[in-house]
Order: sequence, then structure tokens, then C-alpha cells
Amino acid sequence: MFKINCLNPISNVGTDLFTENYEIVENYADSDAILVRSAAMHDLELPDTVEAIARAGAGVNNIPLDECAKKGIVVFNTPGANANGVKELVIAGLLYAARDIVGGINWVQTVKDDENVAKLVEKNKSKFAGTEILGKKLGVIGLGAIGVKVANAAEKLGMEVLGYDPYISVNAAWNLSTNVKHIQSIDDIFTQCDYITIHVPLLDSTKYTINKETIAKMKDGVVVLNFARDLLVNDDDMKEALESGKVKRYVTDFPNPKSVNMPNVIATPHLGASTAESEDNCAIMAVKQLMDYIENGNITNSVNYPACSLGVCQKAGRVAINHKNIPNMIGQITSVISACGLNISDMVNKSKGDYAYSLIDVEAPATDELYNKLKEIDGVIKVRIIK
Ligand SMILES: NC(=O)c1ccc[n+]([C@@H]2O[C@H](COP(=O)([O-])OP(=O)(O)OC[C@H]3O[C@@H](n4cnc5c(N)ncnc54)[C@H](O)[C@@H]3O)[C@@H](O)[C@H]2O)c1
Repeated sequence: MFKINCLNPISNVGTDLFTENYEIVENYADSDAILVRSAAMHDLELPDTVEAIARAGAGVNNIPLDECAKKGIVVFNTPGANANGVKELVIAGLLYAARDIVGGINWVQTVKDDENVAKLVEKNKSKFAGTEILGKKLGVIGLGAIGVKVANAAEKLGMEVLGYDPYISVNAAWNLSTNVKHIQSIDDIFTQCDYITIHVPLLDSTKYTINKETIAKMKDGVVVLNFARDLLVNDDDMKEALESGKVKRYVTDFPNPKSVNMPNVIATPHLGASTAESEDNCAIMAVKQLMDYIENGNITNSVNYPACSLGVCQKAGRVAINHKNIPNMIGQITSVISACGLNISDMVNKSKGDYAYSLIDVEAPATDELYNKLKEIDGVIKVRIIK
């Protein structure tokens, strides 16, 4: 029986996937694996029984990743599970920015008690008029899970879409509509686009991608959308650009003391992933990844251990080894296996930074003797007999 603790409420559509071999326990100290959303884990004393932590969501700064890796605890997240939720809000942002819809809605509230409201509307509506997005050029910076969906949806709405991502994954490239122009220079987006939306992670290399210099290259009256991270845009430079009219509107999902006070800002309260479907998708993905790790030893979407899979275990035995990424580990591991009289039928070894993972199928059930001998190897962190 595997004991699972949920540090935060996790959608039932995820936890319902657990079979009769799993039990939900109240206390993380009694668990073999943990499901978490945003609960702070840095100060938790995790017991040695914990084998994995699955974060139902993308950000993992609430989890001590390196401490976990050192203990052989694999940490998973659920990239892309909320991509459609974010995409839909970005499309709303494009439409909101094309006319002064927010200004118009707010103005209607100011005349709601006037019995001549219908006449006032007809007289004043031109103040809130704008343009259509059909035929306009959209630049998408970052073609990952969200960027690809935004690019494809905007193209379907009749926009001309340029996409930029020098590190695009094969999967993302397959999913990108052939009508989206995948460009090699980000400057093409800055100089040509009427709307620019950014969907990259916040890294040292992406911080302030939208700044004084890049804004200067943009078309007058451009609309900038930021549903990725606050610090991708330099607020002081954006404020100046909004005040001068260089940027017509700035649509952001990250209100802060500076951005909420800028003119022509449309700010949503970090709503990108706040849909029931996104939460369900994250829970389903987190639970499936956890079960595959517990039952088969496979690792998908870990942030502190490498991706590694031998599929569903169909051999007589399988052993999983979390170890340091240092020379001669494979040699020692395979020697121990053969010294125990076991024949290896399949194996895979992957590394990520300082840590590595070996998954080995053997032609007879793995034994306690094998477990004990593998544990003695210097550099081995954790051994699991899966079968
Ligand atoms: N608003 C929200 O609620 C919300 C929800 C989920 C994610 N996000 C944010 O959206 C971002 C994107 O999410 P995702 O799921 O698409 O991530 P992802 O990892 O699938 O995609 C990110 C893409 O950015 C690309 N990239 C990295 N550096 C780049 C650079 N310098 N120039 C161009 N492209 C670059 C990567 O190659 C990758 O394809 C996340 O990092 C997160 O910060 C926001």
C-alpha cells in the first residue's frame, strides 16, 4: 500500500485515479509520496520514506529541489497542463486591447442610473472605438506549451503570426500551425508587429526582454501582452512608453505597485491558470506521473532528476537507482547485478546536473541481496526494487 499525503487540496479528478493500492494519509510524515500545490515545503522535515513529490502546477519555488535530489526524492511538476487556460486569457487580452473595452465598461457604470443611458451610449460610444484584430500582425516570443497555443489560436482568428523561439522543442514545432512564421531574429517581432505577447520563463537571459531599447524598435501604437512573468517587462520603461503613446496598451497578468498606476494598462489578477479545467489537468498529470514513478520507476517531467523510462515493467524484475552523476557508477551497478547472478535484459541511465538515474530490467525477480549490495556502492542515493 502506497501512502500519499496531499499538502494542499488536490482536485478529485486526479486523486480518484489512485487504485486500491494507494491510501491518502493525513500527515506527510507518514507518507511515501506527496502531492502539493503552493504549500511552502522548505522548512518541512521530510521522512526517509518519501520517494517523490508531485507539484500540481508549474512553479516549484516552494519545494527545496536540491535537498530533495540529495535524498533521492524525485520532484515532478505539470508543465503545459494549464496552457489552454492561459491561452484563452491571452486571446481575451488581445480583444480587450483592440478597442477600449475596459474603459467602455467602466464608463457605462458611471451612467447606469441615468434614465437617458441609451442616448448617452450612442453619443459617447466613439470614445471607446478601436480596431479589429483580423489581419493584424502578432508576434509571439517563446513557443512552448502556451506560446504555440496562442500562436495557433490567433492565426485561426485571422491574425498574421510571427513566432520566435531559438530553443523550440520538437514537440512544440510539430504542434505549431504551418501558417505561423517561425522567425530567426526577435527584432522582426519588435519592428513588424502590432501586438507582441511574451511566453518565456523568467531567466537572467529573459529578464526585461521588453525594455527601453526593444520598445524603441516597435511600431508606434503597439500593444504588449505579458501573461508570463512580471520581470520580463521593465516597468519604468513601459510607463514612459505608455505615457508617450508609443505603446497603446499594456496587458499584464501581474499587477504591481508600478503597473497598476500606469495609463492604458489592462491588469488581470494572475488569472491565467485560474480555471477549473487547469486545476483538473494539473491534478491528473501530477497523479499519473507519480503512479508511473511508483509502479514502473519511470520519470516524466521531473525538475531535479532526468527524464527516464523503460515503459510498463513486463520483465521478471526491475530495479531503480537514484545516484550521483559521477564516473564508474554504471560499471559498479552492473557488476553488482551480475555478481548476484542476475541477467540484465534492458537498462537506461540518464543524468541531470549532479544527479543521475538508472532503471534496469532483470530476468529474475530482484532480491534483497541485490538491494543491499547496490545500497553499499559509494554514490548511490536510493535503491528501489520495483519488481
Ligand atoms: N499567467 C499565468 O497564470 C501563467 C500560467 C502558467 C505559466 N505562466 C508563465 O508562462 C511561461 C511560459 O509557460 P509554458 O508552459 O509555455 O512554458 P514552456 O516551458 O512550455 O515554454 C517556454 C518556451 O520559452 C522558450 N524560451 C526560453 N528562452 C527563450 C528566449 N530567450 N527567447 C525565446 N524563447 C525562449 C523555450 O524554448 C520554451 O519553448 C512560464 O514560464 C510561466 O512563467 C503563466
